[in-house]
Amino acid sequence: MSHRKVPENIKKRLKKHHQEHLIAFWEQLDAGQQRDLLGQIEQLDFLKTDVSVEDFIKKASSAASTPADFTAAPFYSAAPANKAELFKYTQAVELGEELISSGKVAAFVVAGGQGTRLGLDGPKGNFPISPVKNKTLFQIFAETILAVSKKYNATCPWYIMTSPLNHNETVKIFEKNNYYGLSPEDIFIFQQGTFANFSFDGKILLADKDKISVSPDGHGGSLRALHRSGALKDMKKRGVKFVSYFQIDNPLVKIFDPLFIGLHALDNSQISSKAVIKAGPGEKVGSFCIADGKVTVIEYSDLPTKLACRRNPDDSLVFGLASIAIHIINLDFIEQLNASGFSELKTSLLSKLHLESSSHSASVSLPLHKAVKKIPHLDRHDNFIVPSEPNGIKLESFVFDALPLASKSIILQTLRGEEFGPVKNASGFDSAQIAKEMMICRSASWLESAGVAIPRKPDGSIDCVIEIAPSFALDRDDVKTKLNQIPKIAAGDKVYLS
Ligand code: UTP
Repeated sequence: MSHRKVPENIKKRLKKHHQEHLIAFWEQLDAGQQRDLLGQIEQLDFLKTDVSVEDFIKKASSAASTPADFTAAPFYSAAPANKAELFKYTQAVELGEELISSGKVAAFVVAGGQGTRLGLDGPKGNFPISPVKNKTLFQIFAETILAVSKKYNATCPWYIMTSPLNHNETVKIFEKNNYYGLSPEDIFIFQQGTFANFSFDGKILLADKDKISVSPDGHGGSLRALHRSGALKDMKKRGVKFVSYFQIDNPLVKIFDPLFIGLHALDNSQISSKAVIKAGPGEKVGSFCIADGKVTVIEYSDLPTKLACRRNPDDSLVFGLASIAIHIINLDFIEQLNASGFSELKTSLLSKLHLESSSHSASVSLPLHKAVKKIPHLDRHDNFIVPSEPNGIKLESFVFDALPLASKSIILQTLRGEEFGPVKNASGFDSAQIAKEMMICRSASWLESAGVAIPRKPDGSIDCVIEIAPSFALDRDDVKTKLNQIPKIAAGDKVYLS
């Protein structure tokens, strides 16, 4: 055992911020463990910790702030509504294709989450989901990126954000699968940051005698992680201007959508979003709205029921535009958020954002949201506790909280069946089973619109299993060019088109 003393400045800092228990086992640690623990304590942002304890742990609030006043957000509808829009959409598609072809767009997936609802061990990207071949989410996205590169004769780099919980495993999966046919130089895997976990009385939890208990800092942490990891630098070197952001758990996402990219660029938007129309007022999704003149997402838990149920004269929901976590983000905007010249925002948005006033060099700090969770930890008496009930608080930031920081932000509606089948739960709503069915339905719809007959049961449901590989078609129009390669499909068939 080492008898090295805890440095005085650390002792003082811990005392000042009421976290002295973090060194309770100091005497039992060897020199290496002591160094390691000191490093973790030094990394802690105590200012943020104090604010978090005050705001989220002592008070019952769930998020930094909810706007007091807001209206419905304008959006581009899924299909052009008139001649002028048709003209603009056509222009946008052309521009989007040009931007993809010239290597200005990078794919970016956030894959650092814990996937607790799915109950999966290991990275969610390794979850098998495709209906015939059982391809994993990673494989589907990799094949999509490969197909896009071929279609546009372009290099389409892929940035993958992991967390300390799944980074090594993710890297191994890519190595083992030979990067799914992509060039390893065009794949950049990097880790997001973490936040400490708290007990209900505001104490930072220990995972072990020498380990602070931490959780990934939320998908909002991606904006900082892109900077810190060097991913932004790498993008800049390649001439990338636009980041196509998506989540690991949506197998239907259209990663490179010329229309979306083109509208974003034509409108000089800094961060754009895709949306679907809510399934009903009670759907647990964030709603797009305008607050203080800025596009903002209000979480379902913060939208009063009365407003959630309010309807327009045509019976549509006033706040019926759901956020589906698909964005195009300007590289410049992410850089701007990370630059030290963030001071303007500091004054104007100080109430909304927890910005470190002692700020180190780079400081994008989105509002924090709290989640009450079961957090295994080591208690003061050296007992390792595996709670059966929620016992602590995790803090996260959300990427959509960057929307109001943009000078311009547009929204494009898309159709749920085309682009949004999240795999969140082990069963029921938003489950793998539903996502698989949605993949089959989308394939059937693409084939039917090209004139291919799809066997259906008397109740209208699809009577076969179909999987369209990205190499075969990336969208409905691609299918129309491959009609001669599509076999006749009979009831009960399993069809894989590649
Ligand atoms: P979710 O909010 O669904 O969280 O993440 P999750 O961790 O995957 O699943 P649960 O809540 O534990 O069941 C939405 C997306 O954001 C990513 C996830 O990987 C997923 O793609 N994410 C989430 C991160 O990359 N980092 C985080 O800290 C949180």
